[in-house]
Amino acid sequence: MIQIVKDSDTRPWFFLQTAHTTYGMRVMETGHLEHLYYGERITVDSQDPSSCAPLVIQRAFAPGNTCTYDREHPQISMEDVCLEVGTLGKGDIREPFLEVRFADGSVTSDFTFDSYEIITLKEREQCLQDSGLPHSYSEVGTDSAECLQIVLQDVTNHLELQLFYTVFEECDVITRSARLINHSDASVTLNRCLSAQLDLTEDYSMITHFSGAWAREMHREQISLRSGKFVNASYTGTSSNRSNPFMILGHKNTCETFGSCIGCNLIYSGNHYEALEKDSYGKLRFVSGINPQSFSRELTPEAHFDTPEAVLSYSSKGYGRLSRQLHSFIREHIVRGVWKRRPRPVLLNSWEACYFKIDERKLLQLAKAGADVGIELFVMDDGWFSGRNDDTSSLGDWEPDPKKLPGGIASLSKKIKALGVDFGLWVEPEMISENSRLYQEHPDWAMMIPEHPHSEGRNQRLLDLCNPEVQQYVIDSMTKVFSSGDIRYVKWDMNRNFSDIYSPYLPAAKQGETAHRYVLGLYHIMNELTTRFPEILFEGCSSGGNRFDLGILSYFPQIWASDNTDALCRTGIQNSYSYGYPLSVFTAHVSSCPNHQTLRITPLETRFQVASFGVLGYECNLKDLSGSDLNAIREQIALYKKWRDVFQFGSFYRGAENEASDSETLSWTCVSPDGRRAVGLFFRRLTVPNQSHDWYRPVGLLPDVKYHFYGRNIKYNLKDFGDLVNTVSPIHIKQGSALQEILSRFVNMDGEKEDLTAYGDTLMRAGIALKPAFAGTGYNSDTRLFPDFSSRIYFMEAVE
Ligand code: DGJ
Repeated sequence: MIQIVKDSDTRPWFFLQTAHTTYGMRVMETGHLEHLYYGERITVDSQDPSSCAPLVIQRAFAPGNTCTYDREHPQISMEDVCLEVGTLGKGDIREPFLEVRFADGSVTSDFTFDSYEIITLKEREQCLQDSGLPHSYSEVGTDSAECLQIVLQDVTNHLELQLFYTVFEECDVITRSARLINHSDASVTLNRCLSAQLDLTEDYSMITHFSGAWAREMHREQISLRSGKFVNASYTGTSSNRSNPFMILGHKNTCETFGSCIGCNLIYSGNHYEALEKDSYGKLRFVSGINPQSFSRELTPEAHFDTPEAVLSYSSKGYGRLSRQLHSFIREHIVRGVWKRRPRPVLLNSWEACYFKIDERKLLQLAKAGADVGIELFVMDDGWFSGRNDDTSSLGDWEPDPKKLPGGIASLSKKIKALGVDFGLWVEPEMISENSRLYQEHPDWAMMIPEHPHSEGRNQRLLDLCNPEVQQYVIDSMTKVFSSGDIRYVKWDMNRNFSDIYSPYLPAAKQGETAHRYVLGLYHIMNELTTRFPEILFEGCSSGGNRFDLGILSYFPQIWASDNTDALCRTGIQNSYSYGYPLSVFTAHVSSCPNHQTLRITPLETRFQVASFGVLGYECNLKDLSGSDLNAIREQIALYKKWRDVFQFGSFYRGAENEASDSETLSWTCVSPDGRRAVGLFFRRLTVPNQSHDWYRPVGLLPDVKYHFYGRNIKYNLKDFGDLVNTVSPIHIKQGSALQEILSRFVNMDGEKEDLTAYGDTLMRAGIALKPAFAGTGYNSDTRLFPDFSSRIYFMEAVE
């Protein structure tokens, strides 16, 4: 709901009300838009505007050594005002929202209130139609989303700034974006135009951000900002694995279940910039938007520039509640198309099983092994197109390699379909290999500075997506590929960071727009292809999670979270993604051991259980697995299918223990929307001897409902006990011997059984004291064998 209140001077105050939060701002006596409040919902009485008076900072005189705004307002110094839009040159010396260079070389701008209008999301869409940017949306009748459009004018410079605030009441989310229009008769240069600014008086200086690198995505870090600036930005051309655009600002004591925090994200897939600055008066300014580094945009008279949409969400109940608000926002208002609510299939991907060494025979054998254990979709990864035997060639030449696929994609997809499995494939459409036919024909389609040496990245170059002809080539070539067989799924990869940024298509004066125009070109292509192929399930990928953001999710409903499939690493990576993204958008695969990224050995059950808290897939050579592993996988997939709706679309809760970075255990719980079914994970990193007691504490159950709590029936392999088995065996069993091998096929030992009925409140508040773990002092069938990297999955079903 949007509430407008007029003060005694008839200046408007704006309040954006969601179910549990309020965002307030007003027009000041100088005409500037002042930020008043963002936090837990407060009552706004339109009949009694004076009841909002406590929100206003009183000003009697300007702080020492500051510039005052003008002669008429000697008490107002812009450096000490909470603003919705900070600009340069009028006394505000903090991170600006906008930076414009005018024809005379000056950079001072000053925006004051002009008008406002409440518009529908449809109307907002019409306004932004030509922006080419993805944005949040609302399905008619599912949510009461409204948009407030506030128009500011820079009267001396003839610039208009339109601010859009969209309110998603049910999920407690507010989004912001802006449009700058040049009404002057000279061109101006835009050096910075951000999406959101939040000036806070409360102490939100505990920053949670997610940094990383390839295979180490989403490393959650917290720092407390006492003074100066903190910057979270990318300059890779993508949203990047170095620093995800999602961040949280929290109070010092905010934790999983308690305290205030604000989550911020950006619906954008290119270079982003988030800065947090603590000013000299203890206030905090947060800004977010396109990275201004190397960015510039010329605005000719009457031209305009649109910024990506920023997403803000406040929670008074800690990080857990904040995550669930963002999960429902992303599921409802970002992800779209037929896959929005459709259960995602369990897939088998060929990459780690075969890498580039694929051919039809091998693929069919693998798909057949997948079909036998219940796989629903088979994905042919890299290596299928002409001449692609390693990563040095062929990107751009999207024809099947006749040596590998003699019957092409049509024949392969048909044969795979005959196995009862859907077919999907990998592409990397934004790239061109120097060693390709496409490069020979169109060297000018690659991004490069003519006549300059070029830096390398996986032996490939970026296509110049600023060029409409190149965009059309990508659309046409992909349309041909996607129509060449029965293709149900596409993995859209992107494996190169930007270097030597230059578009041969754009004139010199527009090179400052190259990185942004690339992203707009990409969005145009994605929009076109997802419209042409609405039934295909698209999965985004960029060397794993190098482009994991809300821009991609506006077109593709899921993203490959990381090339790292090690179960231990994945607990951290997936736990971190869950702060800002729902489980239905990140994919997770069970792979072979020793793991290909870490050489670590983790139990097959743990690999499955961790990957289940994401969109489950497999990525290993099933043909080489033992019969017992294949049986285990068959059971895993059947179990996942039974609980898939809860895993993929339930409410997700992190255990309180996950918060400490040195915690030896981790727990997750997914609860069905009606609260009557839940599934949980309990995981231990390293085992401690002689310490056998563990508690699993589910979260999110209905307190007064009785649940049947149970685990899986577990059988232990004799080999799991090593030579300890000789303490009970009548004959000596040598480790690694044929005898051990034979016995292990026939002798299975029963694992512990968890089975009880209790109220939700008891389960949540007291936790479940699990059967004692093996701790070096004995074993019977009530013992939980829990070596390093072990986990258990538990189920809770309402019994009344
Ligand atoms: C990088 C991806 O992240 C991998 O999963 C795989 O598809 C390779 N590219 C293929 O080249």
